[in-house]
Amino acid sequence: MNHFAAADDISGRADLDVVLRRFYTAAFADPGIGPFFTEVAGTDLEVHLPRITDFWERALFRTAEYRRDAFGPHAALHSVRAMTAADFGRWVQLWHATVDGLHRGPNAERAKAQGERIALALHRRLAGEGASTEGVDGLGFVPLAALELRSAA
Ligand code: HEM
Repeated sequence: MNHFAAADDISGRADLDVVLRRFYTAAFADPGIGPFFTEVAGTDLEVHLPRITDFWERALFRTAEYRRDAFGPHAALHSVRAMTAADFGRWVQLWHATVDGLHRGPNAERAKAQGERIALALHRRLAGEGASTEGVDGLGFVPLAALELRSAA
């Protein structure tokens, strides 16, 4: 592997550790979604990282257990400060950029697709039925336009 290509696929937890640390460092620093972590939730990254790594290791490889409530914290956040389509679009944009910057391959593609699906599912559930989901097929590929990615850029 050379220094200039993101050549290898995500192959397990060690890779996820690096991806997630980079992703959350960027997310915490982001002017749009960072405040949800730093101001609203007061998230301790060193506590969050092992949990979210379990979540992704389970999602991609089924080699870890994740039995925590992934929806609850977002509902709590949303009740304090609304999480908008633009926020989820920004999350997806950062997720894609982080994965693409480090990896290439089927697992990297699955990680991006699953991130989009979960972002849309969270958004739909928080926004409630009928809110900015028109024309969106909930179980299929998430059209980025539905997440107002462009306006979040
Ligand atoms: C605008 C988008 C999002 C924001 C601002 C956001 C923010 C947060 C915050 C502040 C927490 C609480 C962390 C803590 O314990 O202090 C959290 C938890 C969590 N988030 Fe998100 N999130 C977003 C989208 C997503 C997406 C799309 C996923 C999945 C791919 C996700 C996965 C999780 C999981 C699994 C937890 C629970 C971790 C645990 O305690 O077990 N989040 N999120």
